[in-house]
Amino acid sequence: MTNPNNLNKECINQAADYIMPTYGRFPITITKGKGCWLYDINGNKYLDMLAGLAVCNLGHAHPRLANAICAQSQKLLHISNLYHIEPQIKLAKQLIEASFADKAFFANSGAEANEAAIKLARKYSKEKYGAECYEIITMKQSFHGRTMATITATGQEKFHKGFEPLLPGFKYVPFGDLSALISVINSNTAAVMLEPIQGEGGVNLPPDAYLSNLRKLCNDKDLLLIFDEVQTGIGRTGKLFAYEHWGVEPDIMSLAKALGGGMPIGAMLAKDEVASVFTPGSHASTFGGNPLVCAAASCVLDTIIKEDLLDNTQQMGAYFT
Ligand SMILES: Cc1ncc(COP(=O)(O)O)c(C=O)c1O
Repeated sequence: MTNPNNLNKECINQAADYIMPTYGRFPITITKGKGCWLYDINGNKYLDMLAGLAVCNLGHAHPRLANAICAQSQKLLHISNLYHIEPQIKLAKQLIEASFADKAFFANSGAEANEAAIKLARKYSKEKYGAECYEIITMKQSFHGRTMATITATGQEKFHKGFEPLLPGFKYVPFGDLSALISVINSNTAAVMLEPIQGEGGVNLPPDAYLSNLRKLCNDKDLLLIFDEVQTGIGRTGKLFAYEHWGVEPDIMSLAKALGGGMPIGAMLAKDEVASVFTPGSHASTFGGNPLVCAAASCVLDTIIKEDLLDNTQQMGAYFT
C-alpha cells in the first residue's frame, strides 16, 4: 500500500510533469470539503478562508446544491443555445427580478462575462454615437480577467507584460478620482468600467459619493456605466450585489465566481435599451448557460435567500472586521 505521505508528493511531481506552471500552488492536494472545512490527501483538516477564490459561498458539498446538480445531470447536461433551456430561463428571471437589469447573457467565467460587457458597450455606443465611439475608461489597480480584452481592461501593467499589443480603446484613471476621469473623457468615450469595490488590486473601497457622482457624470455625458461584480456579486459583501450599498445602478454588470457555487458560470446583465443591440449572431457561447450550470446557480440564489445568508454575511463581516 502506498504511504499516504507519498501520495501528496506524487501529486506535486505529476502536476509538474503534466500541467503548465501558470499558478504558484501551495504544496497540498485537497481531496474533499464539507461546509467551511477542507481535507487534504493525507487527511489534514483546514479552515477554508479562500472559498475557491471567492466562489464557494454555500461552502463545500452543500446538500441542496449537490442534489440540484445531481438531479439536473440525470435530466439534461447540455443542449446548446439553439434551443430554449428551462433552467436558464429560470436563472435569468431570478437575476433580473433581484437586480437593476432587464436581460441576461450567460458565459462560463468572469473574463467571458466582461468580454460580453465590453462587446455590448462597443456595439451599443458605435450604433448610437458613431463608429469612433468605442473607448472604455477603466481604473488603475483594477482586475477584469485574463483574456486579451480583459487584461487590456485591467489597469495593472504586470498583467499586460509579454502579451502586447493590447486591444486599442482603453484608458486608465485612478480609482476614486472623478477629476482624473473627467479629464480623459472625449467624444469617443463609450463607457466607464469598474469594480464597485476593487478586489485583486487590494480591497479598495470607493470614496463616499464617488459611485453616485460617477453615475451622474455618466448620465450627463451619455456614457455607459459597467460594474464588474464578478468578485463582489452574489452576497460576497453582505448584499446580493455590492452596488446596493450605495444605491447606484449600472447599465451593464458582469457576474461569475460565486454565482455557480463552484460550477463554472458567468453572466452579463444589462438594461433593455442597451441589451437590444445584441441580436442573433452578435455574441455566443457553446456552453454558456447550459442546463447544469444554470440549475446550480438557481439553487445558489434560492439557498442564499432560504438560509438567510446575506444577514449572516453582514453579521460575520462585522465580527471579523
Ligand atoms: C473583479 C473580477 N473580474 C473578473 C475576474 C475574472 O474572472 P474569471 O477568473 O472567472 O475569468 C476576476 C477574477 O478574479 C475578478 O476578481
